[in-house]
Amino acid sequence: MIWQVIFCMRLDKFLSNMGKATRTEGSRLARAGKITVNGVTVKKADIHINPDTDIICINGVTVKYKKFAYIMLNKPEGYVSATDDEREKTVLDLLGDEERRLGLFPCGRLDKNTLGLVILTNDGDSAHRCLSPKHHVDKIYKFECKFPLTDENVASLENGVDIGGYFTKPCKIKLDSDTSGEITLTEGKYHQIKRMLEAVDNKITYLERISFGGIMLDSSLDRGEWRYLTIDEEELFIGGNKK
Ligand code: URA
Repeated sequence: MIWQVIFCMRLDKFLSNMGKATRTEGSRLARAGKITVNGVTVKKADIHINPDTDIICINGVTVKYKKFAYIMLNKPEGYVSATDDEREKTVLDLLGDEERRLGLFPCGRLDKNTLGLVILTNDGDSAHRCLSPKHHVDKIYKFECKFPLTDENVASLENGVDIGGYFTKPCKIKLDSDTSGEITLTEGKYHQIKRMLEAVDNKITYLERISFGGIMLDSSLDRGEWRYLTIDEEELFIGGNKK
């Protein structure tokens, strides 16, 4: 005999997890006869469905099942990397209504004035793996600094500097000029790059993340724009986690 675990979920939870309707809206849609399960109209949203095998439609449009969502955002200045904040605008404010219902959070933090690539997901395991220093996930930043960097400065930064009781791990620096270039980190301490530059008596004047774990910031996204990750990008993000 083959034992199979059948995965069931309430219809209203499914619709809310897919960002299609809040629980209340789900019940209302069902009462209004707008929802079908395998072609049969259902009048209640508290029934159980199998998201892997059942076909759910709202107004005749199929709601595709995806366990997790992965979004790339080109963060503008002035937004904090948080899910909510009493005073500041958060990166979630840049998403659509549907996406805001998915329980997404930013995978790692960029400072309020740092620009560029933020991955938002509701896949906690993969986010945790990407952020864990033991997995050495590369994050590449474009930077500009106030004063020219000497060869000795670059060597110190690459070998590791003391940023106030913590000695940074080795990193890579590729200079475009003596005050600009790219820095690749495998860790992400609070204000890390700014504090690293301060450790060599310099100051960051521009910072933009352009890559995270091999996923490049899509140059067609303007600041504040976002899109879902492609299948290949999802694979890079999920890495060994779900295999
Ligand atoms: N390092 C910083 O100093 N700030 C960021 O936002 C990211 C890395």
